[in-house]
Amino acid sequence: MKILFVCTGNICRSPMAEAVMQKMAKEKGLEGQIEIDSAGLIAYHSEEMADERARRELAKHGIDYAGNARQVGEEDFFEFELILGMTREHVAELERLKPEGSRARVELFMDHNLAKKGRDVPDPWYGGNFEEVYEMIESTCRALLAELVKEYGLKSTK
Ligand code: 4NP
Repeated sequence: MKILFVCTGNICRSPMAEAVMQKMAKEKGLEGQIEIDSAGLIAYHSEEMADERARRELAKHGIDYAGNARQVGEEDFFEFELILGMTREHVAELERLKPEGSRARVELFMDHNLAKKGRDVPDPWYGGNFEEVYEMIESTCRALLAELVKEYGLKSTK
């Protein structure tokens, strides 16, 4: 299955979610069964590396991230079956952009975390709260992966 994380700039929140999910999938031997990517709603940071503070926070947890930012495009709505916005505003914008005929599920990332349903992942670009954001992303990715394993019948090889 294919999953896309979306935030505003694709330099902080969604790359962190992509990297954390990738690591968790790999740890469970699921990397061949889940394709994970991220994108931003704005093009302003396209081609840039992830924010240095985001990369530093990931590195604290043993994760090396080398992806470059890109803007979400129409084709994403046909390529990915699950598109997760990091805030309710992102979800609203994604729903607005979703082309007719796309069967992608557009949902709020945090809705996959029982304890934090309905919440936004705050913007660390302005807020600087990368540690808090990492924790939110980590706990939600853990719950999300367990959910995907069940829902899509993924087979753990580790
Ligand atoms: P992100 O953070 O959406 O988590 O990548 C932001 C990055 C850039 C901007 C806002 C948020 N910006 O306004 O340029």
